[in-house]
Amino acid sequence: MPYLLILFMLILLLILLLSCACGQFSNLKPNAEPSTVWINNSTYAYSTNSNAGRDDRSIIRPILLYNTTDDVAFACGFFSNPSFDAFLLAVFALYTDPNITYMSYAQVVWSANRDRLVQSNSLLDFHADGDLILRDADGSTVWSTNTSGRGVVGVNITQSGNLVLFDKRNTIVWQSFEHPTDTWVLGQTLKERQSLISNTSTVNWTRGLYRLTLLSDGVYAYVGFTDPQVYHKLYLDKVNGSIYAMYTNGTLDFFAINSTDHVRLRTVNLPFASSIQFMRLESDGHLRIYERTAVGWKSIYDVMSDKRWYPSRPSPCNNPTVCGEYGICDYGMCSCPLPADGYLKPLNDRKLYQGCSLVTPLSCQSIQNHRLVVVPNVSYFIDPDNTEPTIKGIDENNCTQACLENCSCKAVLFAKYYDNYCYLLSQIFTMAVNEGDSSTVYIKVQVNKEAQMKVSVGGLLAIIAGGLPTRFSFEELKQATEQFTKKLGQGGFGSVYEGQIGDQRVAVKLLDGVGQGKKEFLAEVETIGSIHHINLVRLIGFCVEKSNRLLVYEYMSNGSLDKWIFNKSQDNSLDWPTRRRIFADTARGLCYLHEDCRYRIAHLDIKPHNILLNDKFEAKISDFGLAKLIDRDQSQVMTRLRGTPGYLAPEWLTSIITEKVDIYSFGVVVLETIFGRRNLDYSQPEENFHLLQLIQDKIKSGGLTEMINQSHLELNFEDVILMIHLAGCCIQSESNRRPSMSTVVKILEGAATVETDLQEVFDAVPIAIREAVHLDASTPPSATQVSGPR
Ligand SMILES: *[C@@H]1O[C@H](CO)[C@@H](O)[C@H](O)[C@H]1NC(C)=O
Ligand SMILES: *[C@@H]1O[C@H](CO)[C@@H](O)[C@H](O)[C@H]1NC(C)=O
Ligand SMILES: *[C@@H]1O[C@H](CO)[C@@H](O)[C@H](O)[C@H]1NC(C)=O
Ligand SMILES: *[C@@H]1O[C@H](CO)[C@@H](O)[C@H](O)[C@H]1NC(C)=O
Repeated sequence: MPYLLILFMLILLLILLLSCACGQFSNLKPNAEPSTVWINNSTYAYSTNSNAGRDDRSIIRPILLYNTTDDVAFACGFFSNPSFDAFLLAVFALYTDPNITYMSYAQVVWSANRDRLVQSNSLLDFHADGDLILRDADGSTVWSTNTSGRGVVGVNITQSGNLVLFDKRNTIVWQSFEHPTDTWVLGQTLKERQSLISNTSTVNWTRGLYRLTLLSDGVYAYVGFTDPQVYHKLYLDKVNGSIYAMYTNGTLDFFAINSTDHVRLRTVNLPFASSIQFMRLESDGHLRIYERTAVGWKSIYDVMSDKRWYPSRPSPCNNPTVCGEYGICDYGMCSCPLPADGYLKPLNDRKLYQGCSLVTPLSCQSIQNHRLVVVPNVSYFIDPDNTEPTIKGIDENNCTQACLENCSCKAVLFAKYYDNYCYLLSQIFTMAVNEGDSSTVYIKVQVNKEAQMKVSVGGLLAIIAGGLPTRFSFEELKQATEQFTKKLGQGGFGSVYEGQIGDQRVAVKLLDGVGQGKKEFLAEVETIGSIHHINLVRLIGFCVEKSNRLLVYEYMSNGSLDKWIFNKSQDNSLDWPTRRRIFADTARGLCYLHEDCRYRIAHLDIKPHNILLNDKFEAKISDFGLAKLIDRDQSQVMTRLRGTPGYLAPEWLTSIITEKVDIYSFGVVVLETIFGRRNLDYSQPEENFHLLQLIQDKIKSGGLTEMINQSHLELNFEDVILMIHLAGCCIQSESNRRPSMSTVVKILEGAATVETDLQEVFDAVPIAIREAVHLDASTPPSATQVSGPR
């Protein structure tokens, strides 16, 4: 009985909710007359916004709506930032239906007050004298159209998203299209000298670094607040008279106004619009075209990636802030100019894409301690074809001297082959790795007295070799481990013992049957020893004596991950935040191996046994015994199958092995950690042997939720789904569809989203499963090392 009652009440509530929401939305009109006030409070009809299927918690309170029979429309109203309780007065494109029963997926295309958001209870006052005024909750004026006394008789939102104030002859007195923000809507005209200015970030809507401006000889894309630097340009023939650009269905058209004639200068083709379409200069400097899809607005085209824009830089280093200020981009991987511990340091060791900063900030008070250092083998995006130099035709010494004498100069670009063009830069953004480029990049650093010596040597950034691990004698390690008595475990290549060197606890690995000669072993130790990352177990030392080969690692007190996730009898399972952190730590470690090291290194045996946890449950990847150097741009053909059944990517069968096999194994580890069981578990009923198969079946049959509940993860349901989704992307059978580890890291940090659909990625798994099952079935079910050729 109580159930029926609850059900009844729920239905009642639903009807109540629906009736008030639809009722108020359907009253929306596209226009209004003066002497109207709209108060931004919760009495007003609103809708929570959702984007890409996820509720982003922003609130939309529409005031005016142009109702089309289509399922997308433009509205004007208040729009809240999901991160703060603060509002824009904005025009947004949104999804709705002809009866306007719902609104979602709103995207801001214009706003009045992005530099000064307003609070709840702010109001929009369409004053009797024709002025449209935005007042904050305290009554202060934040913005206005300044149109009082100009005969305004109404305000209107048009079908193409233009907010218009008009007089009694229907003449436009003021329109939002004349005051563009970061978005250009289909049908909108950009006049000469008008600009789009990006937001600072997706959550910070204040004016950002990027600007796109129409000038008399082209469209310029700039980065930087002061002394903006051109990073792209679309050329137009220079003409007398002013020019303008129109964004129409399928084209960008540029016209010159010659007395009264409009002469077409240039047409650039764009993708045709299916319905509402807009382009936005985004906080990463890309100009992207957006269109409606079944699951929200999607970017369908990157306008400046087109070869008609100059210069065309190879993606993905083709934008100025991809690796932040002072960062170096190498095929999308970021680093700081060497030596990282010298003059420059990453802003965040774990987010290298945020860029670098000077260890000692420049001080204009001690200009005598300024030096310029060369960053070798990089190029900078400023193209002498597009940008006039600061100084022309002086030699390199005079160019650098000019920068040293000018305190606002932070870096120099010297283009020898362009008639000695000298650029003094007040800010330096991302440089791209480019051997043999003709321009030289210098950055200004502040030295203290001790450091002065180091710099004066040639003025170059010295590259400090990473210290080699310490060499120990066998006797020393025997003592350190109390004659190898405290065994920690058995790994792929030998046994591991606990030891103590000085006051440091260590793990000593005694390698079995290493056939390698001394030279090869030392070479391997040098490689491993030069790899330093917080999420990689550090090699402290080694021993090579007669036939003995030992490696000394930092000690990880909580042992390996498998102990924690597969041990059902223990009541100490890891909570979700810990598991989540382990995913991120592991991903960062792998990302470093794959993308940030000098060489591309594939681990080739990622599994919970090789993920170690320290006292704070921070995860580090261990056992580089299987790590193999892989040349850039080239897959290494492996002659032997390596790794562990259950974690092997399908391409092991075809022998084309890249670091993508680690991404596959990582996906498996994530799923194992979520569900607390091995991928291959022969203690399960036969239909459940294979975890990946099981998950795929559950997604098809709708049983995934139940499976998550059984793992007691229902409290973190959304995040768990995201992790399953991410893992699914990683285990796709086609290795080139798997995301790179840096993308995985970004997704884990919430800086990127998974673009595909959950069902879709798991549909892409089957071949992998069949092949893996087939492969696994041919090997014993115990997790032994696969070593022989197949
Ligand atoms: C919203 O503002 C209106 C007009 O001032 C007022 O009548 C109403 O009580 C307010 N609602 C809330 C929840 O503050
Ligand atoms: C744009 O043009 C294409 C091709 O002519 C057409 O199919 C499409 O409907 C047009 N879109 C709009 C929004 O008018
Ligand atoms: C820069 O490039 C040159 C030519 O390819 C190479 O010889 C040199 O080692 C590179 N320098 C650095 C520091 O990588
Ligand atoms: C000083 O440097 C800035 C750029 O950092 C440049 O714009 C300016 O023209 C320079 N001043 C002189 C006098 O060279």
